[in-house]
Amino acid sequence: MANYAIRLVVNGNCYETEADPMISLLDVLREHCHLTGTHQGCDTVQCGACTVLINGRAVKSCNRLALQCQDMQITTIEGIASQDGPLHPVQMAFTQHHALQCGFCTPGLIMRTIALIQEQDSSDEQSVRAALSGNLCRCTGYEGIVRAVCELLRTRELPTNNSVSGHP
Ligand code: FES
Ligand code: FES
Repeated sequence: MANYAIRLVVNGNCYETEADPMISLLDVLREHCHLTGTHQGCDTVQCGACTVLINGRAVKSCNRLALQCQDMQITTIEGIASQDGPLHPVQMAFTQHHALQCGFCTPGLIMRTIALIQEQDSSDEQSVRAALSGNLCRCTGYEGIVRAVCELLRTRELPTNNSVSGHP
């Protein structure tokens, strides 16, 4: 099958490449853009390790063709805080609440949480657990993750200017 030109805007940078039209967004991010912070777990839309933001919505990137994302705004874990600045508030909350161990699920959970804070009003534990149910963690037992997300929802400690960056 002939390759197609794919152009993505990832973390504010334009990436142009050529690839099989059936290639997933996840594979383009990892193999063409070299943004390996987005993890490949199940590759079958179950674990959530590959979650990124597309135009601000959390999406499992193994389940999206890169061609479907032509010219869309994509944010990966690499794009939420500047390299030499402080961590993003969601990263800080995960750290403070011991919400990670091996870290494999963490980028996906952080991206899901950033979207959740824009989408959900309730900081009720049950609704948080339901909202995170598409992101699996094999290590933590979820207690720290849920505590972190509940606190973030209570305090809304995120920028208010639609930016996902931790910096104004
Ligand atoms: S790698 Fe995409 S959901 Fe598991
Ligand atoms: S911290 Fe290991 S899978 Fe979540």
